[in-house]
Amino acid sequence: MLEHGGRLRQAARKYGIPLADWLDLSTGINPNGWPVPALPAECWQRLPEDDDELLPAAHHYYQNESLLAVAGSQAAIQVLPLLRPKSRVGILNPAYAEHAAAWQKAGHQMMTVDADKIEVELAVLDVLILINPNNPTGKLWSRQQLLDWHQTLNGKGGWLIVDEAFIDGMPEHSLSSLPVQKGLIILRSVGKFFGLAGIRCGFVISEHKLLDAMAERLGPWAISHTSRYIAAMALADSKWQRATAFSLNRQGQRLQKLLTESGWQPNGGCALFQWIEHTNAVNVYHALARHGILTRLFNDSSSLRFGLPGDESAWWRLTQALSQPNMVAL
Ligand SMILES: Cc1ncc(COP(=O)(O)O)c(C=O)c1O
Repeated sequence: MLEHGGRLRQAARKYGIPLADWLDLSTGINPNGWPVPALPAECWQRLPEDDDELLPAAHHYYQNESLLAVAGSQAAIQVLPLLRPKSRVGILNPAYAEHAAAWQKAGHQMMTVDADKIEVELAVLDVLILINPNNPTGKLWSRQQLLDWHQTLNGKGGWLIVDEAFIDGMPEHSLSSLPVQKGLIILRSVGKFFGLAGIRCGFVISEHKLLDAMAERLGPWAISHTSRYIAAMALADSKWQRATAFSLNRQGQRLQKLLTESGWQPNGGCALFQWIEHTNAVNVYHALARHGILTRLFNDSSSLRFGLPGDESAWWRLTQALSQPNMVAL
């Protein structure tokens, strides 16, 4: 099992702090997600139906008709490696580790690629996986750059996979609205910006042939009726989306400023999280956990990711903890 954010129960046991007393900043999930209304009882009784409101809402939101709904983008991450012959697959480090794990498990040859050397490395790769913006570094690639790399890979039958889990709120950087092309695979999540990680809904945007092969692997009823019902409403709520994009950007800047003023200037980030690379990352992680604040530690890269506090009392708690003498001295 790979490490992930959100393991609050584990932290509660480890630090002897009751579950209810934690401030969870360990994920990049919007803490003020789309407000799910009371649900009709039939949501729990009915099987999912492919011709409900979900796909029209998704076509409109992603500006693309060639998409497949999946049970969270994680479901797509697990299936994609099964749809290619053994390949040389490039991925950055640090990056959401489930990609590398899935490709490795399926027997592909993994190569860690340096963000500054992608152009050169493409010569030896069949598949390149990029998270845009990257989780956890926040690095963002331009559309044109990605399309150029896709062209190179596609020219030799390769794939470019762009995981856009954190791109909502900055659609000008997304590839989702462009006409689909062979070998270009875009992943979207309803978990992060919409704060609906629990409903397990995401999308793959690509050419129909690949989507059909994925659908075949995933089988019927991959997403529950209830999840489809909620996701369809959230994707159609453009008023909430506009207000949220604005507010998350402001909160991202506020978090960056707070960390900088506390002596922990982020090395990168986006609206939903900030990322700090530091030799003392592990000590900062433990010091905050002793205050009941859970962040996400990346041991390999000695770095720490902070998600957004959800309300003023949470901001106050983080501010207080960061100003404690034991934190300042680290
Ligand atoms: C970059 C990235 N992609 C995909 C996922 C999977 O998210 P979901 O399955 O909820 O869409 C995550 C989850 O943390 C992530 O960080």
